[in-house]
Amino acid sequence: MVTPYKHEPFTDYTVDENRKALEAELKKAEKNLGKDYPLIIGGERITTDEKIISYNPAKKDQVVGYVSKANKELAEKAMQVADETFQWWRKTKPEMRADILFRAAAIVRRRKHEFTAHLVLEGGKPWKEADADTAEAIDFMEYYGRQMLKLKDGVEINSREIENNRYNYIPLGVTVVISPWNFLFAIMAGTTLAPLVTGNTVLLKPASTTPVISYKLMEVLEEAGMPAGVVNFIPGSGAEVGDYLVDHPRTRLISFTGSREVGTRIFERAGIVHEGQKWLKRTIIEMGGKDTIVVDKGSDLELAAESITYSAFGFSGQKCSACSRVIAHEDVYDDLLARVVELTKEINVSDPTNHDTYMGPVIDEKAYNKILDYAETGKKEGKLMVGGTGDNSKGWFVNPTVFADLEHDSTIMQEEIFGPVVGFSKAKDFDQAIEFANNTDYGLTGAVFTNNRANLEKAREDFHVGNLYFNRGCTAAIVGYHPFGGFNMSGTDSKAGGPDYLVHHMQGKTTSEML
Ligand code: NAD
Ligand code: ALA
Repeated sequence: MVTPYKHEPFTDYTVDENRKALEAELKKAEKNLGKDYPLIIGGERITTDEKIISYNPAKKDQVVGYVSKANKELAEKAMQVADETFQWWRKTKPEMRADILFRAAAIVRRRKHEFTAHLVLEGGKPWKEADADTAEAIDFMEYYGRQMLKLKDGVEINSREIENNRYNYIPLGVTVVISPWNFLFAIMAGTTLAPLVTGNTVLLKPASTTPVISYKLMEVLEEAGMPAGVVNFIPGSGAEVGDYLVDHPRTRLISFTGSREVGTRIFERAGIVHEGQKWLKRTIIEMGGKDTIVVDKGSDLELAAESITYSAFGFSGQKCSACSRVIAHEDVYDDLLARVVELTKEINVSDPTNHDTYMGPVIDEKAYNKILDYAETGKKEGKLMVGGTGDNSKGWFVNPTVFADLEHDSTIMQEEIFGPVVGFSKAKDFDQAIEFANNTDYGLTGAVFTNNRANLEKAREDFHVGNLYFNRGCTAAIVGYHPFGGFNMSGTDSKAGGPDYLVHHMQGKTTSEML
């Protein structure tokens, strides 16, 4: 029997011992920078001449690692290995597969500060954010392991006197996992381990900005007893390796997390049946957000202001769940805005290796330029209250930015910026606030601050997002507590960390025996 699931506690870095432990691991991690990392196909380490270079976004010339880069030939080799491995891996005991995840969780937990230090350097995450990313990766291991044990014997259906019926879930086949850089550990691990534990084999193509953490996960899985060929590590260009594997006739499932632009492209391509393909590919596609916090009159404005500030600027707003729009009731708009601006001015933007950094850099030059371009648009569309500037002398630092008096359908209030920018619009009443909140193509997260029960119930029914929170911020979903995924252009709502998630990686098989 396994112990009941509970989520991994966050680390309190005000405790001296914890702070010193992370400082020591950061020093060690800095000494290990600039190493070479090979591909892993069927357990074999393969080094290529062409490399993906992972940089520390806070020190733009500091190389975190040189990672070998797969091309189409290597992607094909990995596909063949994954396809062959699937033939026996699919028949392995679910208990054994779950045990690999439990052991992996124990390994990461023992080396938690090491992983967190790595995320500070490769992802540019402040300590609190990096710790949460490590904790979430552990949670996915513990949660999906337990979910597999629940699903292993199938689901109860009816039998009759004349027949015995069973309904079981069986694996699908080779799964292509394409992961983003923002939850470089948690999402990459979660989307890799769900197909693994359900009996599929995996081709893991991580984001090119953060590939080293995926190599570290591979080492953990090997140590935990994962046989060769089950997960194959093939970092490479999205356009080359990504397209090749998405189009491949032997690909059975594609699990993608990333931007709307790439997600919709994969969705379209996956719909084409190629020569030799015997199935319709299944896709799990989780994309961006344009997440709104609604603040009603009569709500706790201090709580709302603090929650908006953290939801907008935690990890520099680079979360699909980040608050990038606030719709406030006209009676509280000015006071709320003034308090958010005050809190924003207190934010410490600096190198995340420092203990007290609230906000670190954005991920790279492309993101830096894109966010500052949006800031220029914001100046035309609304009133700049704070921020709108950046500093790229050492790393990709963008200051937290607040725009006021925007139309709810302006660019700043509609497009995903994926940076530390939040816009404010006014609503004349709660109904209009919900109408404005729903007025985007997305539907990922949202939050409502109100002390009015009728309005809470209205939001529960009408605010159309996959993750809706009351009287708290709109980020920081916890595995097993807040199944995560969005509506509309936010994706397929597969609900990572939820009780249905693993089922998306399997197919139902009914067997009926006459008695
Ligand atoms: P991205 O779409 O640029 O990249 C995601 C992955 O797709 C990367 O591994 C990339 O190499 C790969 N890729 C790029 N082109 C490809 C192609 N043609 N074929 C196949 N793969 C290709 O996204 P990103 O910048 O890494 O991540 C940020 C985005 O992810 C934001 O939009 C954010 O909202 C979204 N996101 C969503 C969730 C969610 O759960 N809904 C979670 C995290 C991030
Ligand atoms: N699961 C992450 C959050 O809720 C994306 O912030």
